[in-house]
Amino acid sequence: MSSLSMRHLLGLRDAKPNDLRVILDTTRSFRSILDRPVKKVPSMRGLTVVNLFFEDSTRTRISFELAEKRLSADLVNFASSGSSLKKGETILDTLRNIEAMKIDLVVVRHSGTGVPAFLAKHSNAIIVNAGDGANEHPTQALLDMYTLEQELGSLRGKTVCIVGDVRHSRVARSNIWGLSALGAKVRVCGPSTLLPKNPAEFQNVVFTTDVRHAVNNADAVIALRLQKERQDDNLLPSLREYRNFFGITEEVLESSKAGVKIMHPGPINRGVELDSTVADGSNSVILEQVSNGVAVRMAILYLLSGGLAHE
Ligand code: CP
Repeated sequence: MSSLSMRHLLGLRDAKPNDLRVILDTTRSFRSILDRPVKKVPSMRGLTVVNLFFEDSTRTRISFELAEKRLSADLVNFASSGSSLKKGETILDTLRNIEAMKIDLVVVRHSGTGVPAFLAKHSNAIIVNAGDGANEHPTQALLDMYTLEQELGSLRGKTVCIVGDVRHSRVARSNIWGLSALGAKVRVCGPSTLLPKNPAEFQNVVFTTDVRHAVNNADAVIALRLQKERQDDNLLPSLREYRNFFGITEEVLESSKAGVKIMHPGPINRGVELDSTVADGSNSVILEQVSNGVAVRMAILYLLSGGLAHE
């Protein structure tokens, strides 16, 4: 049996600190494997994972695929384009047909909020949420937490500032819940039109529209991708205006702690939410986040499949 209290990884909203601890501690052992010349272990030999991506992805899709290969799992990649979804088949029928081919775990990304939870409820497969709409992106938040612990040690009492389009960000939501569960102090900053509509969803979080106030004495800053498509919704005056008031620049970071860690889930709009001098500077751990993503996904797949290989 898995040593996690959950059967699926759907989100971090109700995550138990002990489950987060188990995932992050397991990640550490897989991270060391990734630094070896031979980066493969037999932990998931004989198990089959299907990657169901209904929405574009670079980092998450490749990272899951590499994690599965490093664990010696068999894997199948599904893309909605070219599938029978185009002929009107439902997502649930698609999953049930894939399940009938004897698969063990399903990784799913979809633009619709709640699709992974729906599939978990109506199928027998173990489901991992790889990002659902503006709801949650738990594996991104876990790799962010792992990177922060690697850089800062325990997160208890550390100040992490999340800046950008928080309202539409699944990364922000998962991070706020996950970081808070591990005792970090979370500050959230953005234009009022891009802050959460229902802040009561988030306990003990400081909300501000003043980026200098937000980053003051912060240990880490997570800049979010400004979703340019939101411009059409009249939520922003212009990208230039956004950059002037909320862009993370060297000057904005002057009041944060020396050595403040700079993070971004990617893809970055350079010169909008983050200046290149900051994104590529010595405090940036953005590519370390990507490296850690493979290890965190190995840990999650390994833990959720615990026992399957022996059933
Ligand atoms: N961070 C992230 O989810 O990136 P992708 O959309 O490229 O997977």
